[in-house]
Amino acid sequence: MYKKKPFFIVFEGVEGCGKSYQSQKLKKNLEKKGIKLVLTREPGGTRSAESIRRLILKDYFNKGKKEKFDKYTDTLLYLAARNEHIEYKIKPALKKGKVVICDRFIDSTLAYQVYGKQVDRNFIDHIHKFILKGIKPNITFILKVSSKSSKLRLKKRRTKNRYDNFSQSFYTKAQKSFLQIAKNKKNYFVLESSLNNSDLEKKIFSIVCKYLKIK
Ligand code: TMP
Repeated sequence: MYKKKPFFIVFEGVEGCGKSYQSQKLKKNLEKKGIKLVLTREPGGTRSAESIRRLILKDYFNKGKKEKFDKYTDTLLYLAARNEHIEYKIKPALKKGKVVICDRFIDSTLAYQVYGKQVDRNFIDHIHKFILKGIKPNITFILKVSSKSSKLRLKKRRTKNRYDNFSQSFYTKAQKSFLQIAKNKKNYFVLESSLNNSDLEKKIFSIVCKYLKIK
């Protein structure tokens, strides 16, 4: 029998890896079992964090290179959005004993800002000490995708995303960083996500069911 308890699930991976799709599938599957949950994303998830998200994403499409946010400004914006998100959405939901599914979290900051843009790790760790307030994902799914597959998925999207502005090598590096982060950690699951079938959805659901003791 499922006993209500706070449980924090995070999906991570590069653009086009299917995180958003898989988190929605997991939400549907858990709701069918009567589980109360919150599906959210970073950057974003609250009204204020979503407005910070728009600010960040708008900057990526700003063509004038010189006018772009400095990498520390960019990092601070992600962290500012995270603070709002934790304080007003994640923490309250976990307090109520809900399951929280989040599309990206702190590992995206490590992969993109630290490994990708060489932002000082200590800077981020220091701010995280103040804003995370002990909140840690119970499990993290890292979705691994081939560049061919991710490109195809992104091509199908109607809205533009950062992918257009960064090189393939940036994403190859980001994916490697995610894999590195997951290494030797028992609450991380690295799953191949290049194929478009329902196997992955089933695998994710069965892992979560084991943790939540759902039959
Ligand atoms: P999305 O494409 O998954 O919606 O995420 C928006 C972009 O933000 C994506 O390119 C990854 C990036 N990002 C970071 O660079 N650092 C972070 O900490 C987070 C949460 C996202």
